[in-house]
Amino acid sequence: MPPKELKSPYGIMQSMVDILDEQYPAHKEKGTGIIQFYLFHKNQEWVCYIKTGENRLEFCTGRADNPTVTLRCDFFHWLDLASGKLNPVWGMITQKLRFQGQTSFFKTLPKVDFNVNIKDKDDPCTAFEKNATKKWQRPQSVIIINASPRSGNGYTEQFISRLAEGISDAGANVEEIYLSKLKIKTCTGCWHCWIKENGCVFDGKDDFYELFEKVNRADMIVYALPLYVDGMPSILKNYFDRSVRRVYPYICSDTKKMRHPRRIDRKNQAMALLSICGFQEKIQFKVLGMHFRAIAHNTHIPLIETIYRSGAMFLFNNPFFYKAQTEILENMKKAGTELTLTGKISRQTKKKIEQKISSKKEFVKMTNYFWFDKITNQKDINDY
Ligand SMILES: Cc1cc2nc3c(=O)[nH]c(=O)nc-3n(C[C@H](O)[C@H](O)[C@H](O)COP(=O)(O)O)c2cc1C
Repeated sequence: MPPKELKSPYGIMQSMVDILDEQYPAHKEKGTGIIQFYLFHKNQEWVCYIKTGENRLEFCTGRADNPTVTLRCDFFHWLDLASGKLNPVWGMITQKLRFQGQTSFFKTLPKVDFNVNIKDKDDPCTAFEKNATKKWQRPQSVIIINASPRSGNGYTEQFISRLAEGISDAGANVEEIYLSKLKIKTCTGCWHCWIKENGCVFDGKDDFYELFEKVNRADMIVYALPLYVDGMPSILKNYFDRSVRRVYPYICSDTKKMRHPRRIDRKNQAMALLSICGFQEKIQFKVLGMHFRAIAHNTHIPLIETIYRSGAMFLFNNPFFYKAQTEILENMKKAGTELTLTGKISRQTKKKIEQKISSKKEFVKMTNYFWFDKITNQKDINDY
């Protein structure tokens, strides 16, 4: 589609008059007359007027007979005046605005009042959001979303299964959901879910709604994913896009970074992030961590813990890493229990999971050897 043409000053004036007209009947200083404009924009003069009547405003192009007041100015200066950014007296002194006739007649145009009374517009940060660990209550139900496009066949699964065991040992019901096995259509950004109370256009046509409901019922959600291009796999991003219906379109004014008030009334839900990646350094997760913190803020669900395991693939492909692999997986189980019981993973457990498995130099040599072997001998990637 070619880019849309910008609206002309006439189009903008018409839209402005449409808004003013809605508020005109309630305006106290109504009057019958004509406000004539000569607006200069892009080397052109745009001649138009607003007719004010008993109960409505009308926009017309061209020249009117006997206008009550006339304004000649740059189109942008008129917009500044109309939006209150330009003081009319200052506009006259600086000769940005040139009036003729009864200037006070401009008072017949209402000042646009954008105030609306919205229930639940403000949704302040709860004490739980601020410090979930302090207010921790053991979750009864935990959902682990496995967002590896390789589902149960990926390395992510190896970490999840141990974590799930630990969660279950702590007494919570835990369910793992394989995102890639579900049919979830791509969010088209149609805003149906925000405008119509009855939800998304795809409800009943794919598996999302059932998942959405399940997630809303869970006390804790663990997002488990392989790092893809420094971020999350697209199936998970799409899941978050489709989850935008968790919040209202309105905006809360209580936080430094704007967000929407929650529509799903769950105030004590928490989330945790488990991610693995191919490269060896922990810094690889920096962007993902920032993204998840933003998601936590936007959804009002505190991100209580992050577990990052870099070099994950090679943990399973190099016999020399067997000791580290054993220790890491055992501690994943421990992490599941600690997380469920306290909302935190102890420093020792995390240190074991996120331990450095080799020097950078060795890691590079070993990885290159691995891929060279796969390519030269055309070996299957799961062949280890
Ligand atoms: C498309 C794609 C993109 C990837 N991007 C990154 C990356 O940016 N950084 C990284 O360290 N690893 C990256 N990886 C490696 C995976 O994170 C790693 O192999 C992980 O263990 C795969 O988990 P899985 O077997 O559960 O799918 C990428 C892998 C794929 C397939």
